Amino acid sequence: MNQAIRFRRRRRSAAIRDLVRETQLTTDDLILPIFVQEGISEPVTIESMPGVVRYPEDQLAQAVQNAWQLGIKAVLLFGVSENKDDTGSDTWREDGLLARMIRTAKAAAPDMLVISDNCFCEYTSHGHCGVVCDHDVDNDKTLKNLQKQVVNCARAGVDMIAPSGMMDGMIAAIRDALDSSGYSHIPVMSYSTKFASAFYGPFRDAVDSTFKGSRNTYQMDPANGREALAESLEDEAQGADLLMVKPGTAYLDVIADIRANSALPLAVYHVSGEYAMIKAAASAGVIDEQAIVLETMLAFKRAGADLIITYYATDLAHWLTPSQAD
Ligand code: PBG
Repeated sequence: MNQAIRFRRRRRSAAIRDLVRETQLTTDDLILPIFVQEGISEPVTIESMPGVVRYPEDQLAQAVQNAWQLGIKAVLLFGVSENKDDTGSDTWREDGLLARMIRTAKAAAPDMLVISDNCFCEYTSHGHCGVVCDHDVDNDKTLKNLQKQVVNCARAGVDMIAPSGMMDGMIAAIRDALDSSGYSHIPVMSYSTKFASAFYGPFRDAVDSTFKGSRNTYQMDPANGREALAESLEDEAQGADLLMVKPGTAYLDVIADIRANSALPLAVYHVSGEYAMIKAAASAGVIDEQAIVLETMLAFKRAGADLIITYYATDLAHWLTPSQAD
């Protein structure tokens, strides 16, 4: 053994460990997803995701204010629509659910960063993320509708657009629409590298999706690492302001690769299945929930993510107090 090198010298006390810690996690890093469902009067629990609910619309304001009081500064809004059709036209109506949620959230907490999940799957009768033609989602027809959708969100006062449909050219199309409508100041956080993942299973319960098929013709093959980087770099080239990898835990290599090749802020989405697995293991008494969640979030940041979208945001806001035990 080389006596000169002793790593343990830097581990002798909590004070020195805190001093040399390379990665920090704070509430500022977190984005809380919120689900709102039309036509309910009480919150509905999501069975596979204990602690996560679908709110009735009249409880959204309170949910946003509660998050703000905990120190959470960004929310990501998902609507569960009752007005579904072939194209998801509710998303570009001024009085549609998406626009109403944005107005309500902004009025409830004006300084909260309100982000819209910009997709169609929760507003289409078939559950696909766009217009279906010949049994597949038509990319360019979907882009036209997405342009109407994002301008509608901008008019409603949204702070950031987050397109999750994995259409080719979606960032350029969104940028065009926003810029030509007077919204060149609104940033776009692209779901730039989104995999066709089994980890979304509980989310599909959460949004009551009638969806039966697969999204393999637009979301990415989990086998492809080089393509994962290319997808994010393409969105950067089209003008995305922030990039994203989704899901997180099984894709740390992809996060690290994008971090090494882009200077943009990078988000990671800790998705429903990742949440549900921790919850299930914790309720079976086989893991320490808080320790596992903190370690997972730290791993995202160590891999290169700057921000984390997670259903654990409210728990984390409680756990991440300055006096947090070592
Ligand atoms: C819709 C969408 C999905 C998620 C967010 N937006 C599901 C999917 O693509 O099937 C998943 C979120 C989660 O699992 O937590 N495009």
